[in-house]
Amino acid sequence: MQHPPPQPQALLATPDELRDRIRQLGTSVPRRDDPRLPQVRAILAELGGQPGPLLPVLHAVQDTLGCIPPELVGEIAQGLNLSRAEVHGVITYYHHFRSEPAGRHVLELCRAEACQAMGGEDLWRHACASARLPAQGGRTADGAFSVEPVYCLGLCAQSPAALLDGRPHARLDAQRLDALMGRAREAA
Ligand code: FES
Repeated sequence: MQHPPPQPQALLATPDELRDRIRQLGTSVPRRDDPRLPQVRAILAELGGQPGPLLPVLHAVQDTLGCIPPELVGEIAQGLNLSRAEVHGVITYYHHFRSEPAGRHVLELCRAEACQAMGGEDLWRHACASARLPAQGGRTADGAFSVEPVYCLGLCAQSPAALLDGRPHARLDAQRLDALMGRAREAA
């Protein structure tokens, strides 16, 4: 049986899609006077020579800058003799790494199996909805919160569990989560 030829629109990306893909690969470049460039170069100089340097470098960049800016991915790749796609692949593989600064408070809600079995997914949806975020989480418009998934915090016996600003909270429900987030918002 003969298959019909594929339609051109099935093969070609729109200009917007192409721009998105290019942005995701971090192909934009920083300005020469970008103050973050010397910081990244110092990290590369310090950590780039050790075995398996990519993860230590990415952690150090995020610790220093609050995120791994897409426009600095090329600098990191060049400094480690890797392709931008390789660095981008690692950044997107690990949920820990972010491309934009986090909110003032970071809620990391566990979405792994044990927490799922104890209502973790309902809790995730509740957290996103109450923070007026899309279903995949992210940073709130006022910058107060980042809501991010994690996959097991080692608190499976007390699930569902989360970290709020690095502090563990277990046996959560919507009410307790609202109270935690409310107190964090007031404290900021
Ligand atoms: S599955 Fe959520 S803490 Fe382990």
